[in-house]
Amino acid sequence: MKILVNVALPYANGPIHLGHVAGAYLSSDIFVRFQRMKGNEVMFVSGSDEHGTPTTITADRQKVSPQVIADKFHKEHMEAFSNLDIKFDIFSRTTYPEHSDTVKEFFLDFYEKGILTEKTMVSPFCPTDNRFMPDRYIEGTCPHCKFEEARGDQCDNCGRILDPQDLIDPKCILCGTKPEFRETRHMFFRLDQFQDQLLKWLDTRGFWKQNVLSFTRNFIKAGLRERPITRDIEWGVKVPLPGYERKRIYVWFEALIGYVSGARILSEKLGKKDYWKEFYFDPEARIYQFMGKDNIIFHTIIWPAMLMARGQYNLPYLVDANEFLTFGGKQFSKSRGIGYTVDEILKIAPKDYVRYYLASIMPESSDADFTLEDFQARVNGELIDKFGNYVHRLTSFVTNNNLTISSSESVLDGKDKEALNFAKERIRAFTELMEEVEIKKALSEWLELVKYANSYFNSSEPWRLIKSDMEKCRSKLYVSLLLAQYITGMLYPLTPSTAERIMEKIGSSRYSEKGFTMEIFSREDSEFSPVKSDPPFEKLDIIRINPNFVDLRVGRIIEAKPHPNADRLYVLKVNLGDSDIQLVAGLRKHYTEEDLMGHYIVV
Ligand code: 2FM
Ligand code: ZN
Repeated sequence: MKILVNVALPYANGPIHLGHVAGAYLSSDIFVRFQRMKGNEVMFVSGSDEHGTPTTITADRQKVSPQVIADKFHKEHMEAFSNLDIKFDIFSRTTYPEHSDTVKEFFLDFYEKGILTEKTMVSPFCPTDNRFMPDRYIEGTCPHCKFEEARGDQCDNCGRILDPQDLIDPKCILCGTKPEFRETRHMFFRLDQFQDQLLKWLDTRGFWKQNVLSFTRNFIKAGLRERPITRDIEWGVKVPLPGYERKRIYVWFEALIGYVSGARILSEKLGKKDYWKEFYFDPEARIYQFMGKDNIIFHTIIWPAMLMARGQYNLPYLVDANEFLTFGGKQFSKSRGIGYTVDEILKIAPKDYVRYYLASIMPESSDADFTLEDFQARVNGELIDKFGNYVHRLTSFVTNNNLTISSSESVLDGKDKEALNFAKERIRAFTELMEEVEIKKALSEWLELVKYANSYFNSSEPWRLIKSDMEKCRSKLYVSLLLAQYITGMLYPLTPSTAERIMEKIGSSRYSEKGFTMEIFSREDSEFSPVKSDPPFEKLDIIRINPNFVDLRVGRIIEAKPHPNADRLYVLKVNLGDSDIQLVAGLRKHYTEEDLMGHYIVV
C-alpha cells in the first residue's frame, strides 16, 4: 500500500523542544518505521513553516530580517530531527519557489471557481506604529478561558481560534498601544460552502481518536464562516491578483499547501516528476496527518475543505493529534524557559532513551508530564533492567558455553508452546495498536512480553539443564532467543538504533538476511549466533549528568577543624559513602568540634 505521512510544518521561529517532539514528530516517525517494516511504500513529508508573523515577531525582536530567522531555525530543525533519528524523506521550506508556485496554483484555481470572494474586514491598526497589525501582534485576555497572554489569532491555553476583536483588553505587542479597528480589503475562502460535505466525510471517520473528532464536530456545529486568507503584511507568498501588491497570503493557508509542494519537490529530486500524484490522486493510497492538538481544525476542516475545493485530491485518511506534554505540570515553552529543547536533552541522555521515554508517556488521550525522575526510572527500570539485562544474560550464557542455537535442534514442550503463543498474542495486539497510532499502549504490550521473557528464562534454568539435558537446554535457549528477537523487532520503530545494536548481539539470521521486516515475528528456521559483548546499556544517572538537578545527600562528619582565617567557621570533612567532600560551615558559635564529629548531616 502507498502511504503518505505528513507532519505539521514547524514554525521556523524557535528551537524544537520536547513538547513538539511528543506532540507529533516522534509518533509520526514511529508510525512510518512501522509501516516500512510492514513493506508499505511510504513518503514522509514535513518542512519549515517560514512565513507569517511567527517569524516576523522573532525577527522584529532581534532586529534582523525574517529570512535570517528562517534560515537559522530551518537548519536547527533539520539537525534536531536528525539527531533524534526522526527521518523525513523531505524536510522542505515554504520559502522555496516551487512552494509559492504551488500556492499560486491553488489560489488561482479557487479564485476561478468562485470559492474566493473579496470583502472588507476590520483589522487592528496601531496608531503608534501607523500600520495594520497582524492578529499575532495583538495580545490580550482570552474571552473563553481568561488566559491573559492570548494572541489575536489563537489562545495557546484553550486552543480556540480567536479574532483580535474578541480579546479583552487588547494591546499591540510592539508598543503596548490599544489598537484601533479599521477597514481593509481582503480575499476570503468560502469555508461555509463545505459545511455539509465536511460533515458527511467526518461521519466516515469514526475510527479517529476521540479528541480529534469531538474538537472538530464542535467547531463545525458552531457554524463555518468564510475566512480571510490574505493579510496586510510584507513577509509571505505574494497574492497573484492586481491591487494586492502590498498584501500577502495568510501563512496558514499557504503552509498547508506545503504538504503538496513538499511531495512535488521530493518527486522532482527523485527524478520521478509525477510520483506525488500516486499519493494524492490514487484512491487506494492513504494520507496520514500528524500534529499537536492546537493544529487540529486546520487539518480536519480547513485543509480537507481546500482539497475538496480542488477536486480529485485524496482527503486525509487519518488525522492524528496528541495532547500536550507538560514539564513539571507547565506547558513547554522556550521563551518562558520551561522544559528542554532537543539539543538540551541530548546533552543529558542518548537519543533512544529520549525516544523510549516519550513513547512511554505519549500524550495520546490526555496531557502527560515529563519529569527527570520518571525519565530515569522508566529508562533504567524498563529498557535497561528488564530488556537490556534479559538480552545480556541470555546471550552471555550462550556465548560463554560456545553454543549456536537453531530451530532444527529444538523440541518444544508445553511450556515453550505456551510462551510462543503468549508472544504471538502480544505481537498481534502490538501490531493492531501501532496501526491505530496508539503508541503508548503498543509499548505496554511490548513491556508485558519483556517481563514474560524474563520469567520464562529464569524458570527454564538453562544453567541447570546444560548439565543434565542438552536437548532441552537448547530448546529453552531457542525459545528465549526467539523472544529476544521479537521484543527487539517490536522496539525497532520506537528506538531504531538500539534495536539494530541488539539484533547484532543476538545474532539473528532472520535479521541479517532481511533487516527489520514483519518476518522478524515468524519462527520458521531461525538461527542464532550471539556475539559476546558488553552489557548493551549504560544506566541513566540524571543527578550525575545534570548539574542543575538538585542533589541532596546525607553524609557523616569525619573531621572538624577551626577555619584558619575566620572566627565563625569550621572546615568540615564529610563522608558521603563513596567519597569525601570538604566544606566550610558557620557553626562555631553553636557547636564544639566534639559535638560535630560523627554527626549525620544533609549536604
Ligand atoms: O503550529 C505550527 O507550528 C504550524 N507552523 C503548523 C503548520 S502545519 C501546516 F500548515 F503545515
Ligand atoms: Zn483561551
